[in-house]
Amino acid sequence: MRDMAGSAPEPKAIRGRLLSFTAEPSGPGDTASYRLIDDGLVVVRDGRIAEVGEARSLLPGLPPGTPVDHHPHGLIVPGLIDTHIHFPQTQVIASYGAQLLEWLNKYTFVEEQRFADPDHAARNASFFLDELLRNGTTTAVVYATVHPGSVEALFAESERRGTAMIAGKVMMDRNAPPGLRDTAQSGYDESRALIGRWHGRGRQLYAVTPRFAITSTEAQLEAAGALNREFSGVYMQTHLSENLKEIETVRGLFPDARHYTDVYDRYGLLGERSLFGHCIHLEDDEVRRLSESRSVAVFCPTSNLFIGSGLFDLERLARGRDPVRVSVATDVGGGTSYSMLRTAAEGYKVLQLGGQNLPALSAFHMMTRGNALSLGLGGTIGTIEPGCFADLAVLDARATPAMAHRMETVDGDLEEELFVLMTLGDDRAVAATYVQGRRAWDRDGGMGMVGAV
Ligand code: GUN
Ligand code: FE
Repeated sequence: MRDMAGSAPEPKAIRGRLLSFTAEPSGPGDTASYRLIDDGLVVVRDGRIAEVGEARSLLPGLPPGTPVDHHPHGLIVPGLIDTHIHFPQTQVIASYGAQLLEWLNKYTFVEEQRFADPDHAARNASFFLDELLRNGTTTAVVYATVHPGSVEALFAESERRGTAMIAGKVMMDRNAPPGLRDTAQSGYDESRALIGRWHGRGRQLYAVTPRFAITSTEAQLEAAGALNREFSGVYMQTHLSENLKEIETVRGLFPDARHYTDVYDRYGLLGERSLFGHCIHLEDDEVRRLSESRSVAVFCPTSNLFIGSGLFDLERLARGRDPVRVSVATDVGGGTSYSMLRTAAEGYKVLQLGGQNLPALSAFHMMTRGNALSLGLGGTIGTIEPGCFADLAVLDARATPAMAHRMETVDGDLEEELFVLMTLGDDRAVAATYVQGRRAWDRDGGMGMVGAV
């Protein structure tokens, strides 16, 4: 028995059509990149996947009375992973009419001040995790606010739910309202204390989070670099090259830097656990440094469209002369949806505008195994295989009348079904979400078919 209220006895099993990637798809039709089991079974022990295979082979071996959740019409995929999202922006999302710097000052910095209140932070952490789970997202890389209490609230809520969150206190010691500023020293001390309390506690992991170059002094970036060096397992997340005015401002603030990426580079902030949100307007030398350092560029399509930042160039970054690791993310509240399906839909459109495309297999790979690999968490999350946590999303390509109508013309073709899911789907297309094998979201309340062997 695990310590979560209401957890079912184990082992337990989840049955349905299973899809999990084994390699990055080379393009449409790459059937070797995934494993699809039409009537599959996931056997869960201690929150992890103990066995995966054909239901007819595994069911007879289960102890009598083992509970089985059956999803005969669902497509079961690994829990989706969002690699960049702001939990204090659940009431900033959908704020009208501004580009990045104005948007930050007019909406974001106003709202984030309210997180000085622990009750407000706790309420929002709970709402935020509800919303992720309703959207099939079981792991996210999260910016909190400058207040250490906001990180506490998020991790505490995530721990209660058994989800894996990577999060950090935003460090910002200039160009922000006084109520949102720390100092180089306090930002370092508070981050260090949070790392001590939360990094590696259960499933929670810490990300050192200097917000972006505009809101950190050189002393603070230095402190962030020191934390990175001191704690080798922690992540680092920040924003890079999102908006042209932002880039111009950074140039003015750091006249000695060769370019925006160099600002972070000189403080040791690049590396394989470093996630850089946006990466839209990069020079070739910046791409080269991101590539060399194995840093991750985070594609945030709904945000880039909504804030009017620009078009991400996947071809150049992922497959150019200096390939950069790329992940995908919502960036709520600059982003406009918590849904990774909607995010993939907008990603497809952004790439179309650049004469590129995003095959459905690639999109689903990115949201699952790809994002897990970008976090160094392959084999732990992002795939349905023994040893992984039993974090799963049950998708329904017939969730709305328009989807069901469109699906009438899809005759068993997986890639077409996935494309319908990503183009027309949203939270309504998530029938259930499992965290460590426990049902954490159930769209239809009580689900039709819960049985036992
Ligand atoms: N750059 C610095 N802070 C932010 C933020 O909160 N959202 C986005 N989209 N860009 C940023
Ligand atoms: Fe962001």
